[in-house]
Amino acid sequence: MKALFITLEGIDGSGKSTQAKRIAQWLEDFTGRRTICTFEPGGWEGGKTLREFILGSKSYNALSELLLFLADRSEHVEKIIMPALNSGHNIICERYNDSTLAYQSGGHNLEIAHVKRIITACNFPEPDAKILLDLTPETAFERMKSRKNLNDKFENDKFESEGLALMKNVAKFYRDSSENFIAVNCDKLSEHEVFNEIISRLEAMIKQCQSR
Ligand code: TMP
Repeated sequence: MKALFITLEGIDGSGKSTQAKRIAQWLEDFTGRRTICTFEPGGWEGGKTLREFILGSKSYNALSELLLFLADRSEHVEKIIMPALNSGHNIICERYNDSTLAYQSGGHNLEIAHVKRIITACNFPEPDAKILLDLTPETAFERMKSRKNLNDKFENDKFESEGLALMKNVAKFYRDSSENFIAVNCDKLSEHEVFNEIISRLEAMIKQCQSR
């Protein structure tokens, strides 16, 4: 079986980083392949500067925003994702094309067909599996507030500063497309239960691929 490319999606505060580390450890044991955790935007050498620009600047328009995320992805695919897969390593990537659809279209109202066309033209590799951590925006928002010790509105980055209104639109977009994912509703589950649910479904998917 070839190295696996798995993406992890969800609104801000849905627990992606924690689950990514745990899934990577499990996948490494299960497949016997080295497994690399990475993220977008900025998960490549030199990507920190672009990440800071994208998340720090509030003055560019929605199309520029889309193109900036795709530029970041282009570097990430070329410098990290493809070399790792070609060397036989699995990849767990926090955020990928579905974040662009959910935030730039679902959140910032770019026409979905237009965003899909541009993403398709980029010819980025397709993930083998996509995991969605589905959490209500209110719960995610509360978690983030307590983590960052802020009151009602975040001042940190471009997206967080838009607060609950953006999160609601993004969450709805993800939920409406949940049939494309291994989607786990995290609202009533502990971190460990979410992890168990993910790996039992991933394991079934991997075994099914192997039997083909
Ligand atoms: P992070 O904090 O999960 O690393 O993500 C940074 C922010 O960037 C998050 O609010 C989601 C946003 N984002 C997009 O709007 N479009 C994208 O394509 C990606 C990858 C992230």
